[in-house]
This record gives sequence, structure tokens and C-alpha cells, in this order.
Amino acid sequence: MSRLAIIGGSGITKLDGLEIRRREVVHTPFGEPSAPLTHGDFHGHELVFLPRHGAAHTIPPHRVNYRANLWALRQIGIQKVVGIAAVGSINPAMAPGTIIIPDQIIDYTYGRDHTFFEDNLTHVTHIDFTSPYSEELRQELLASASSANIKVHGSATYGATQGPRLETSMEINRMEKDGCDLVGMTGMPEASLARELEIHYACCAVVANRAAGRNNGPITMQEIEAHLTDGMMQVHKILSKLFISA
Ligand code: HPA
Repeated sequence: MSRLAIIGGSGITKLDGLEIRRREVVHTPFGEPSAPLTHGDFHGHELVFLPRHGAAHTIPPHRVNYRANLWALRQIGIQKVVGIAAVGSINPAMAPGTIIIPDQIIDYTYGRDHTFFEDNLTHVTHIDFTSPYSEELRQELLASASSANIKVHGSATYGATQGPRLETSMEINRMEKDGCDLVGMTGMPEASLARELEIHYACCAVVANRAAGRNNGPITMQEIEAHLTDGMMQVHKILSKLFISA
């Protein structure tokens, strides 16, 4: 049984190099996941792939059914999830096209179904979220990057915004003061739902652009797409080296 899943973000609706074995439609008590789960082999590793924004990239960040996605993966026995995510960089050291494995999160999202622990409870549950990502899986990603000879930043704070619009320059200034290095729209509640289900979860962020006000002029989709294409080539190399011990 596959234990590792990759949730693909913008720029990765399918995983090139994945030898597809089968697609599995999973229904959950929380609705439908973004797409059928794709089972396959990737450079000798068995994994499951799920495109977060749907197979045709039509589901915006605030409409992703994060609960159904994580529940479906747990239901088929997945123990580790790598969330690939396009981000804007606030920290000037994190250039477009580079890969970041963040270690912290600040959540600015609202109105999303963000917990499994609300209905029919026998007791109120509060998960520990001091360190929001699985350190074990982060270290595995960092080791994979190192063996693929890809320089990554192994420490960064991901600020999760609601979207789908990009931010104002003042919002980015505020996020910088808060301590955010990166800004993206899908990191939450994906990470905390994974923790609620006791799934090891880590984020592999691809810098698509400099954040609002840190760019020369407006942020364009062309710019985002060009950097994502570069960044995704590196993500593929990292994933191809990922040795999962679970
Ligand atoms: N802001 C929020 N989300 C993003 C960005 C950004 O600048 N770039 C890619 N995803």
C-alpha cells in the first residue's frame, strides 16, 4: 500500500515521470476530494498524487475541500504527505525559482472548513501545533534536496492568506513585520488538518514571484508561470530522491 502522497499545487496538476497504475475515486464524509487519487511509481517509489486545484486547475485556494483531500488520503492509509505550493517571497534572500522547506506558519485565512473536531464530539480536542510541519519529513526532503544537489532554504515562515487575490504592498509589509518569509494561499488548513489526522506533513514551496511591492511593478501570471516551470523541475529532482522510511 502506498504510504506517501504528493499534493500538487499551481504548476503541478500532474506529476511528470509518474507511471500511473490506477486512479481511485474516494468519497468522504466531508465531500469529494479535488480529484481521483492517482496511484503510481515515481523513480522507484510508490506514491499517490492528488492535484489540489483539481485535474484541470479550476478550484481556487479558498474553495479547495482540504478536509476531503486529507481525509481521503488517510482513508487509503497514507502516512506522509508532501504539499507542493507556489508562494511569493517576502524575504529578499528567497529568489523566484528557488525551493523552500518552511518550518513555521502564520495563518491569515478565514471562513475555511479547518477542523475535523467540531461535530459529534465526545470531548473537545486541541492538537499541538507548536511545530506545524513534520520535522521527520522536512529532514527527508532536505536530505533529498542535498543528494539531488539542489540548494534549498530549510527554515522559513509561511504566511497563509485567503486569496484568490494577491496581497497589497502594505499587507506584505505587515506580514514581514509578523515574521513571514513567504506568502501563499493553500498552506492552511492543509497542514493543521494533516496534524489532526496524525499524518506527517511537510511543505515544498516553490517561489513563483517576489511578493506585492517587492517587485518592479505588478505581479503578472506570466512571471509566476515562468518561475514555476523552473522551480518545478527542481521539485521533480527532489521528489525523485525522496526515500521514505515509513
Ligand atoms: N501571494 C500569495 N500567494 C501566492 C503568491 C503571492 O504573491 N505567489 C504565488 N502564490
